[in-house]
Amino acid sequence: MPGDGIGPEIMATALQALDALGVDHTTEEHLFGGAAIDAYGAALTEETTEACRRADAVLLAAVGGPRWDTTDPDAPRPEQGLLGLRKALGLFANLRPVRPLPALYDASPLRRERIEGTDLLVVRELTGGIYFGEKTRTATDASDLCHYTVAEVRRIARVAFEAARTRSNRVASVDKANVMETSRQWRQVVHEVHAEEFTDVQLEDILVDNAAMQLVSRPADFDVIVTENLFGDILSDEAAMLTGSIGMLPSASLGGAGGPGSPGLFEPVHGSAPDIAATGAANPLAMLLSTALMLHHGLGLQAQAAALESAVDRALDAGLRTRDLGGTATTNEATRAVLDHL
Ligand code: NAD
Ligand code: IPM
Ligand code: MN
Repeated sequence: MPGDGIGPEIMATALQALDALGVDHTTEEHLFGGAAIDAYGAALTEETTEACRRADAVLLAAVGGPRWDTTDPDAPRPEQGLLGLRKALGLFANLRPVRPLPALYDASPLRRERIEGTDLLVVRELTGGIYFGEKTRTATDASDLCHYTVAEVRRIARVAFEAARTRSNRVASVDKANVMETSRQWRQVVHEVHAEEFTDVQLEDILVDNAAMQLVSRPADFDVIVTENLFGDILSDEAAMLTGSIGMLPSASLGGAGGPGSPGLFEPVHGSAPDIAATGAANPLAMLLSTALMLHHGLGLQAQAAALESAVDRALDAGLRTRDLGGTATTNEATRAVLDHL
């Protein structure tokens, strides 16, 4: 699903990479987000949801843009499509790996010695919290309800602990337990899951405001960061700058509760970047790295996933820099540079 803004530009890159990898596959393309609002009056149609359910994996670029921005609570929004699809497919676990490449240490606004050695994974809860609680709006009031069940916290905690076991065995659980009841429940449940099954994993609690600060002051000390939906959204954009640009950060959304063989959704962390759409300035690497996550988690094609990731690494080592990374390469030039290394 190419979506809106720079979405179609970077999706074209991803499809070229799949072809170049020789992955035997069939692709179906569907309008999504603003493009679907224009065509069908809704960001996500029942037909598109069904097509996603039938697929082995869903690859998404980005949705949204000023054309559909509105403060009218009753008007359709592109982002509703994204939230609706995550919910429909049961994608409660959003994995956002942050692995700054040495070649890009100097492309980050942070000093190299802060970033060196950073390799962290944000595990963001994706189908609960304030994103999905009841919303109200009157002429004088508005409210968003933040709600979590114990079961929702348990399952995301397990994903984080399991992930830590395949990495450096450390989990930082981020909450706002000094203020929010949902966070106090979160903290208690995370510790229960830890005590029951994961005492071999190191667990620390960090309040979210402190975590936001620690992410830029000592990022290399983090391994797995597990947190609720809204905190994970904000902290992952912040963490993106450790890699030099939001245009570098991929994500995988997994869950499998959307039915048997339920597919994962793979998309960059960034949005549709309407400010640079149709200028050739879009960095396609987050999209390519999301495609690699799809090959790995979604299709079980480990060798092809590794080949694509390493082609991205080597293109950057060889000097590839799009504008967001301080260079001049266009989307097409970046695509060519990676394909040349594939
Ligand atoms: P954004 O991530 O689209 O852009 C933020 C800034 O980063 C912009 O200056 C943009 O030019 C730059 N940027 C983002 N991706 C880039 C890339 N690949 N290459 C180079 N530069 C890049 O965030 P925003 O401007 O706050 O949101 C724009 C729209 O995207 C909104 O409608 C928002 O709701 C939507 N959005 C969608 C998704 C998604 O589809 N998953 C994610 C985030 C935001
Ligand atoms: C993201 C995006 C989405 C989110 C928006 C577009 C709904 O910011 O994937 O990080 O907040 O989850
Ligand atoms: Mn976001």
